[in-house]
Amino acid sequence: MKVLVTGGAGYIGSTTAKALEQAGHIPVILDSLLTGPREFVRDRTFYEGDVADRALLARVMADHPDIGCTIHMAARIVVPESVAQPYVYYRDNVAKSLELFHELSSLDKPRVIFSSSASVYGPVEGFEVRETSRLEPPSPYARTKHMMEQVLQDLASAGDLQAIVLRYFNPLGSDPELDTGVYAREPPHVLGQMTLAAMGRRDSFQLTGTQHPTRDGTGIRDYVHVWDVARAHVAAVERFDDVLSEEAVASSVINVGTGRGVTVRELLAIFEDVLGRPVPVVEAPPRPGDAVGAFANVDKARALLDWTSELTVADGVESALRWMEKRRQVLGYA
Ligand SMILES: NC(=O)c1ccc[n+]([C@@H]2O[C@H](COP(=O)([O-])OP(=O)(O)OC[C@H]3O[C@@H](n4cnc5c(N)ncnc54)[C@H](O)[C@@H]3O)[C@@H](O)[C@H]2O)c1
Repeated sequence: MKVLVTGGAGYIGSTTAKALEQAGHIPVILDSLLTGPREFVRDRTFYEGDVADRALLARVMADHPDIGCTIHMAARIVVPESVAQPYVYYRDNVAKSLELFHELSSLDKPRVIFSSSASVYGPVEGFEVRETSRLEPPSPYARTKHMMEQVLQDLASAGDLQAIVLRYFNPLGSDPELDTGVYAREPPHVLGQMTLAAMGRRDSFQLTGTQHPTRDGTGIRDYVHVWDVARAHVAAVERFDDVLSEEAVASSVINVGTGRGVTVRELLAIFEDVLGRPVPVVEAPPRPGDAVGAFANVDKARALLDWTSELTVADGVESALRWMEKRRQVLGYA
């Protein structure tokens, strides 16, 4: 199938485009290059522009009438930036997505797979969240994702679109050939911080928040290999109609995680094991807004997508470390 991938120059979008190709599908990329690097598009069919540009979208669909599904990944994704600049987050992630969805509906392209996030969940005892668990998005970024989930549900109820919402947990690593990966110069997430400390670009890794009610006091997350996340999209594309008909719904929400929680201390131990040496660590109080975290219940992904994660956290760490060595060749900076 031909699949439109908005945000296909980004970290997860470019990896998903590759997984689609490997499964015999053809990705068509729409990306403004707001943040994603041109290099990640490679030689794929590419439209540079905004998801809210209706004329552009009409042209894409006229050029590719066989596009059968849209994966909407394009978004702004930095949580602290969303706190500082809520307007641009609501404009780009909410208002522009709404325009995109309306245009897709007008063009009679109803199938949408939407990138949502585990950050929409509220705190849950035991830390395992199901799709039906309470939602309490803590940041403007997470609220944009929650809002678009609701918008999609309403559009689907009205018969305008059909939607599969994938709530990703914490993607890490790169594609198997290391063509793409994390491209932020200073990756802000926990694995990025460990990597910078390991490379000597930071004096130490700051372990923030050690008094959480978890087994070792540090935050818990569900680190899922980005290649597994990409494969989940292939499954969603291929099983799109089956998923909705099995549930007899017009929209469905599915967690994409491993089903296993890993604390920051446990991640650090895995990281040091893969690296083969210890990393200097300084313990520090939690940063404002730091969440205890959660891990996914993945029953629904298994049942409806026939998908489970296959790669381990250690695989993801190894892949991330190898990518950091290689990315100078791809992006021109380490
Ligand atoms: N990376 C994560 O940890 C994570 C976790 C959960 C969910 N997600 C979601 O997954 C999706 C992809 O995330 P990512 O990590 O690959 O981010 P990314 O920033 O690497 O990719 C987003 C891409 O969207 C493009 N873009 C942004 N606004 C656009 C617009 N208006 N029009 C066209 N293109 C636009 C950017 O240029 C970029 O290439 C996002 O929707 C994000 O919210 C990411």
